[in-house]
Amino acid sequence: MASLRLTFTVVTTIVIACMHFPTTLAVTSYVVGGAKGWSMPQNPNHYEAWTKGKKFIKGDHFYWVIKERKYNVGEVSSKEAYDTCNTTAVIPPVFDVDGFFSVLYKVKIYYFICTIHCSKGMKVAIDIKES
Ligand SMILES: *[C@@H]1O[C@H](CO)[C@@H](O)[C@H](O)[C@H]1NC(C)=O
Repeated sequence: MASLRLTFTVVTTIVIACMHFPTTLAVTSYVVGGAKGWSMPQNPNHYEAWTKGKKFIKGDHFYWVIKERKYNVGEVSSKEAYDTCNTTAVIPPVFDVDGFFSVLYKVKIYYFICTIHCSKGMKVAIDIKES
C-alpha cells in the first residue's frame, strides 16, 4: 500500500510539474513593431530597431496588428530570401487579417516579410533564444 501511495504521489508531482511548466518559462507577449503594429514603416529600419535590445525566448507570443488588408505577413525560409524580399520563398500561410499571433517555439531566427511592402522595410527578423 505504501508503494502504491508513493507511486501516486510521484505521478501527481510529475503532472503538476508539467502543468506548471509553461508559466515558469515566463514567456512574453509582444505586439510586433510596437504601437504602430504591422504597417509600412516610415523608417525602413523600424522593425530592426524594434527588436534591438529585446531578448526573445522560445514560447514568446507575437501579435500581428494588421489594420489594413493591403498588409500581410508570412515567414520566409532563409536569411537570403529575407534580405532579397523573395516572396517565392514564403512558407504558407500568409496572414492579412488583424488579431492573430504566432507562438515562436523554435530556437532559431525567424524571418517574416510583408509580401507587398518588404522592400520598403516591412520585414522583421526575430531571434529566438533557448532561455
Ligand atoms: C526565391 O526563392 C525560391 C524558393 O525558395 C528559390 O527557388 C529562388 O531561387 C529564389 N530566387 C532568388 C532570386 O533567390
